[in-house]
Amino acid sequence: MKTILTYGTFDLFHIGHLRLLQRLRSLGDRLVVGVSTDDFNRVKNKNTVVPFADRIKIVESIRDVDLVIPETCWEQKVKDIQEHSVSIFGMGNDWEGRFDYLKDYCEVVYLPRTEGISSTHIRKTLKVLDQTHVGELKQALDLISSIVERFD
Ligand code: CTP
Repeated sequence: MKTILTYGTFDLFHIGHLRLLQRLRSLGDRLVVGVSTDDFNRVKNKNTVVPFADRIKIVESIRDVDLVIPETCWEQKVKDIQEHSVSIFGMGNDWEGRFDYLKDYCEVVYLPRTEGISSTHIRKTLKVLDQTHVGELKQALDLISSIVERFD
């Protein structure tokens, strides 16, 4: 039984997340995923849109995920590797080299990220769309006001 372990925030779950989890699961028999709590995201200076309770439910529902655990701090990895008898620790290659110290405990792999998508990018897009939407509403209100004024 080969167990793989990974961690992430998985905010606004997207195709990059799905592909990473699928590729990791294909390396063995069981995939354990640590989902960052809202408190830990604050430590990482990450402002999420989707709360932890929802993010963990979404990741849990992915077919290739066998177990989801909360990620509450940087230091829990060795304990998790031992507790879940992990053979492979894997992350996207934006983390290349960062977790090499875990090689004392299991195999460590960094998989290529899916190009062109990230939670940060989606959060930024939502913000822009939101401003556009507010602008459109303002224009519509101005138009209505000018029509109403004609009847004064
Ligand atoms: N990931 C990936 N391809 C992407 C985005 C993320 O393979 N396009 C991987 C990351 O490398 C990480 C895991 O998915 O191993 C969880 O990443 P997370 O930080 O939650 O996703 P990001 O979209 O990178 O989020 P953010 O922009 O907030 O950093």
